[in-house]
Amino acid sequence: MKTRILLYTGKGGVGKTSIAASTASIISSQGKKTLVISTDPAHSLGDAFGEEIGSRPKKMAENLYAQEISVNEAINTHWGELKGYLTGLFQSQGLDPVSAEEIATLPGFDEAAQLLYLLDYYKKGEYNNIIIDSAPTGESLKLLSFPEAMTWYMDKIFPVGRLAAKLVRPVMNTIGPMPMPDDDVFKSVERLYSSLKEIRDILTNQDISTIRLVMNPDRMSFSETKRAYTYLLLYGYPVDSIFINKIYEENTGAFFKAWRNSQEEIIKGVSESFSEIKIFKIPLLKSEPIGYNNLILMGKSIYGDIPPDTIFKKETSIEFYKVDDRYFIKFKLPFADKKDLKIYNKGGELIIELGNWKRVLYLPTIYADKNPIGAEFINGFLNIEMR
Ligand SMILES: Nc1ncnc2c1ncn2[C@@H]1O[C@H](COP(=O)(O)OP(=O)(O)OP(=O)(O)O)[C@@H](O)[C@H]1O
Ligand SMILES: [Mg+2]
Repeated sequence: MKTRILLYTGKGGVGKTSIAASTASIISSQGKKTLVISTDPAHSLGDAFGEEIGSRPKKMAENLYAQEISVNEAINTHWGELKGYLTGLFQSQGLDPVSAEEIATLPGFDEAAQLLYLLDYYKKGEYNNIIIDSAPTGESLKLLSFPEAMTWYMDKIFPVGRLAAKLVRPVMNTIGPMPMPDDDVFKSVERLYSSLKEIRDILTNQDISTIRLVMNPDRMSFSETKRAYTYLLLYGYPVDSIFINKIYEENTGAFFKAWRNSQEEIIKGVSESFSEIKIFKIPLLKSEPIGYNNLILMGKSIYGDIPPDTIFKKETSIEFYKVDDRYFIKFKLPFADKKDLKIYNKGGELIIELGNWKRVLYLPTIYADKNPIGAEFINGFLNIEMR
């Protein structure tokens, strides 16, 4: 069967696990076989369901399975030989064994290794939906989006090509203090590399995967969400919705009035920053959404009649691109008239104003210090040049 992948990410503590678990519960109750997996090394999926979940898919209810992936198991399964070699290499350079092993787990690879499970499940096609409760940073997504950078990385670790290694290894092994990688290591690197590339292809394919950002209506969480959104766009990941979680109800007492007002400000800002994608608003519940029944209730209140595996946005509406040495941003703006348009960089955010309409885009680092110098409409897209 064809599998849909929904990945929930966001700042620490905003409600990723609760929303991933409630989404999985509600989808599976609608008759779709669903697996929810946690790739956050600090698993809390079991806490959300109020029962233990192991490192294998565990049946939680009809059509519902859950798994908390073990980081070490994932690394050893998919990355054993390479890690063994790197540990040896670092030790030969004088590091103590424990530090050597720790460093041999390169940053970002631990979460990426967990995503390798995804590839297996996807290829087997056992599930209608796979829902991923991911770690706060989304570091692994960044890593997956750079096959080229990874090639560079690997070239640094294995400075000689494979063929050359075959020739020099006998010499190196006798004269050098540095152990040369053997064939198994090379094979393992090749396998890892092609699997990571496959996962990237799956996660950036908008017909298969959807990335969803979870936030709370506060300033810090909003900033992080804007940043995450921009970078996910930059790397080509299909973000289709934002989940604003823990919104205070309207009739708060006097004490929470100011909080409630500032939440409203943030929610308004969210619609200016993410106007092209779906926004879900979730109230702060009276108690923690723990256990299957509560997760189902939460799921119902989030999605109502909307199937949670709907693809809420398909086309790319913002793009960053470069022609020669000129930097551009491409915006979908079908209705705009250029003469009323105001575009400016305000502290690293691009503001586009048209009458009462306003759009805010967090700029990636390479654009942050540039200002708009010209804009042109082409086929419903506003192309802004930045310098
Ligand atoms: N809408 C809500 N109303 C009340 N409590 C909530 C709501 N959403 C989540 N919570 C509670 O907030 C806490 C954090 O939620 P959760 O663990 O889902 O966040 P997280 O983003 O996965 O955190 P982490 O970054 O630690 O993985 C939990 O105690 C959870 O039960
Ligand atoms: Mg969590």
